[in-house]
Amino acid sequence: MHLFDVYPLLNIEPVSASGCTVIDAQGVVYLDLYGGHAVISIGHCHPHYVARMERQLRKIGFYSNSVQNSLQRELAHKLGVLSGYPDYALFLCNSGAEANENAFKLAAYKTGKSKVLSFSKAFHGRTAGAVACTDKPSIRSPFSLGSDSVTFVPLNDIGAVEAALATQSYAAVIIEGIQGVAGIITPEDKFMQELRLLCTRTGTPLILDEIQSGYGRTGAFFAHQLAGIQADLITVAKGMGNGFPVGGVLISPDFVPVHGQLGATFGGNHLACTAALAVLEVIEQESLMENAKIIGNYLFEQLSFMPHAVSGLRGRGLMMGFEALPEYATLKHDLLYKERCFTGASGSNTIRLLPPMCLTMAEAKQFITSVHKIINE
Ligand SMILES: Cc1ncc(COP(=O)(O)O)c(C=O)c1O
Repeated sequence: MHLFDVYPLLNIEPVSASGCTVIDAQGVVYLDLYGGHAVISIGHCHPHYVARMERQLRKIGFYSNSVQNSLQRELAHKLGVLSGYPDYALFLCNSGAEANENAFKLAAYKTGKSKVLSFSKAFHGRTAGAVACTDKPSIRSPFSLGSDSVTFVPLNDIGAVEAALATQSYAAVIIEGIQGVAGIITPEDKFMQELRLLCTRTGTPLILDEIQSGYGRTGAFFAHQLAGIQADLITVAKGMGNGFPVGGVLISPDFVPVHGQLGATFGGNHLACTAALAVLEVIEQESLMENAKIIGNYLFEQLSFMPHAVSGLRGRGLMMGFEALPEYATLKHDLLYKERCFTGASGSNTIRLLPPMCLTMAEAKQFITSVHKIINE
């Protein structure tokens, strides 16, 4: 058997990693400002994470969701406290798309409605419901929900939201805290505040997809908290497990759980909970949200000193995007192959920075030196 060829692959194979460093099969060392697509939150192979996972694996790795699992309760408690949502409930699953699917189900059960309001350029995952709410028709198969189930309105257009919600036909509104795949687009704070008010006024649950923008990356636990709002349902994955597949939905007390409505065989298994607990412990012990803010500000400032090479600098904390000017169109490629530095992309020309939140000042300076070197060549 061979692999089903769905990913365009770089000819690099990472075989070991530590902190913000990745080493390939030839022994080449890379600086990681991509975090494996915003997944590595506390750093590769963090010693506390590794030790906790090893200990748990020797005890018990999995049992079904038909028995008690105190690790799930411990995780729900710690996540509630650290995220500022202590009175919410947690449903555990395995990925971002699955978290969004379950959020849609909860909203639809509660409202008895089926339509979802989403935004231009949104990305919410690749399963049938999540991809239907993703503004990219080319990745939507005929199996996905029909176009009458999801309406897309322009981001920051509160009038369009108001007109749609006035029809009283929506089960939910879904929005990313910061649009990631679109190229790091932050909704305006005022728009988020008005969106919150409209959802409350029309009884429409507000789903905040914090799968990429959450878990401390922006300097706040969730990006939407920087706009001073609360969501009814918040979806998480990516950085939650630092590479171990785990996702979840944070659910407001307005939702009443019903046995059998939601479920997932692997959701909240012992190893997933241990990974997620280790991540939260390290975020707290090492003040990684504060670090994301400080290092993010430094990178932002340094990149803003290069208007001759980069434009459209944007983002919050360690979630940043910019375009290389046409003369430097090969910047991302050169960063990888000349300077040995991983970054993310969006479209053909946008560079996304999504490093582990433990990026040090020395590593940030190394990255800036690399950008200077390429620009000056
Ligand atoms: C904002 C957002 N939502 C959902 C997803 C889907 O997550 P997963 O790939 O874990 O299903 C992604 C993945 O990139 C994402 O960025």
